[in-house]
Amino acid sequence: MSESTARVAIVTGAARGIGAATALRLAADGFAVAVIDLDESSTAGTVQAIEAAGGRALGVGADVGDAEQVQAAVDRVAAELGPPVVLVNNAGVTRDNMLFKMTDADWDLVMHVHLRGSFLMARACQKYMVDAKWGRVVNLSSTSALGNRGQANYATAKAGLQGFTKTLAIELGKFGVTANAIAPGFIQTEMTKATAERIGRDWEEYVAERAAAIPVARAGVPEDIAHTVSFFVSEGAGFVSGQVVYVAGGPRT
Ligand SMILES: NC(=O)c1ccc[n+]([C@@H]2O[C@H](COP(=O)([O-])OP(=O)(O)OC[C@H]3O[C@@H](n4cnc5c(N)ncnc54)[C@H](O)[C@@H]3O)[C@@H](O)[C@H]2O)c1
Repeated sequence: MSESTARVAIVTGAARGIGAATALRLAADGFAVAVIDLDESSTAGTVQAIEAAGGRALGVGADVGDAEQVQAAVDRVAAELGPPVVLVNNAGVTRDNMLFKMTDADWDLVMHVHLRGSFLMARACQKYMVDAKWGRVVNLSSTSALGNRGQANYATAKAGLQGFTKTLAIELGKFGVTANAIAPGFIQTEMTKATAERIGRDWEEYVAERAAAIPVARAGVPEDIAHTVSFFVSEGAGFVSGQVVYVAGGPRT
């Protein structure tokens, strides 16, 4: 596919972790990829890795929870790469604490990034998908949506994203747009490293302990999620919409 005809995908929170792996995978699948993260400079590594592999990428700095920044970012992607018809809402943060210690700020930031961020991004991108009569939205949920100690804010946001996904599937289906969610289990990234650090656990030991409780007997890696995104975004997945796939090495871990 030539540069001018490549479909354009946006991946948020793509400076590292699951977002970076997803951006690389979608570029390998033939998409031109907008790599969005808080600071444009932090996207350089992902952009360079895509370009080194022969792909096309654009790094854009934006806070996905800020309406003006989102509109400016999506406008820039449309002008410099082309109309974004794939959106992967991956940007995320954790602010874990037991309910009695959770601050208003812990609650608000998690809602800001996951829920408001996914809403703003989807609202800004949907017109390009509707115009193209083709689009794909993939939202990152989590096994924490089923409930997780110390994560009242995050579990709520990740469960909320499942309802958001199903509603987008219903509203946008007639325009050739699908919306699906991926609920990862334990994936080795900076986010889970920070969790291990916060609870005072040695990283290697923590990974081994988590892996021992996972049916496939290993911890997840970002590429496991990127692969699932690739499926949802693919041409052949056009009849799969409004679904939540738990990618956790087992049914509920
Ligand atoms: N790692 C796991 O085990 C796991 C499990 C389930 C779900 N998830 C979800 O997968 C997604 C990616 O997680 P990860 O482990 O790669 O995390 P990560 O912390 O390694 O990466 C998250 C990225 O999002 C960016 N980000 C944060 N706030 C942002 C904002 N307001 N605007 C733009 N970018 C922002 C960060 O700068 C960072 O680059 C998140 O939504 C996370 O909740 C992760």
